[in-house]
Amino acid sequence: MRFSRPRPRPDSISPTAHYTGYVWARNGLGGGELATTRGGWYYRALQPAMVLSRAFGGPVPEDFLLARHGVIDHLLSAAIEAGHVDGVLELASGMSPRGHEFARRHGSAISYVETDLPDMAARKRDALDKLGSLGPNHRVEALDVLRGHGGDDLLALADEFTSGKGLAVISEGLLNYLPTEELRTLWARVLAVLRRFGAGLYLSDLHVAEDNRGPVDALGATLLGRFVGTGLHFHFTIPEEVRKALTSTGFDPVELYLPSEFADLVLDANRPSADRVRVISAGAART
Ligand SMILES: C[S@@+](CC[C@H](N)C(=O)[O-])C[C@H]1O[C@@H](n2cnc3c(N)ncnc32)[C@H](O)[C@@H]1O
Repeated sequence: MRFSRPRPRPDSISPTAHYTGYVWARNGLGGGELATTRGGWYYRALQPAMVLSRAFGGPVPEDFLLARHGVIDHLLSAAIEAGHVDGVLELASGMSPRGHEFARRHGSAISYVETDLPDMAARKRDALDKLGSLGPNHRVEALDVLRGHGGDDLLALADEFTSGKGLAVISEGLLNYLPTEELRTLWARVLAVLRRFGAGLYLSDLHVAEDNRGPVDALGATLLGRFVGTGLHFHFTIPEEVRKALTSTGFDPVELYLPSEFADLVLDANRPSADRVRVISAGAART
């Protein structure tokens, strides 16, 4: 299923990073320094629609944003604490506080590299610099996951994780903006990167059509797709198709979670709209 305009403009996805950045901050994630004025405008402009959507049983993005973010944080923490991962490469990190939080929490025990399109990466670098978060173990790099040198750029970034022990690659809030071919290309590139490490973990959120079927969901997807200009893509109808696609790419094992499965462990995983999204946790072994 696809709600799209004909010409993708990846740069236009960046406004959503202002919105999510504001959502993280207003919910106490990351201390608020990464929220932007623009994010506040978007949030306030959308509030009446969110109230109506909740009243009619439609999706409430704040619910599934917080749920997916909390579950990804939880899975990443578990992998670091188990000693499987000591490097994190976050794609399309926008104004997410995760890099700052994990760098603060784990210090020199991990290397954290955040990436995004050049303008967003510059904005993030500036904000993190003001927070004093950047250093040899926490960096921001410009990376377009689709254009430029694509896979080569990803592999070059992976070379910066010198321990070779365990790498986690995260893509949060990105996949449903990508057409299916680009999604599959990205997954193949991520797998190639992870296979260079002793342990590889890919974490991401993904919306599957089955979980977003109502009329209000369809309206919301169409409007968001128009707003970002790239469209919104539901590549898979049911979760089993996602598992098959990741397995045939070469990931193993592949888990696809509903946030509510973490209701006892993750604060926001039980919000009413939490299960509009799935969280992928996929492994990769060194080849
Ligand atoms: C919805 S925001 C998510 C930001 C962040 N991950 C979060 O959850 O708060 C989508 C992000 O994808 C980035 N983006 C869009 N197209 C991209 C591309 N081709 N390569 C890298 N980043 C991209 C945007 O700049 C934006 O920061």
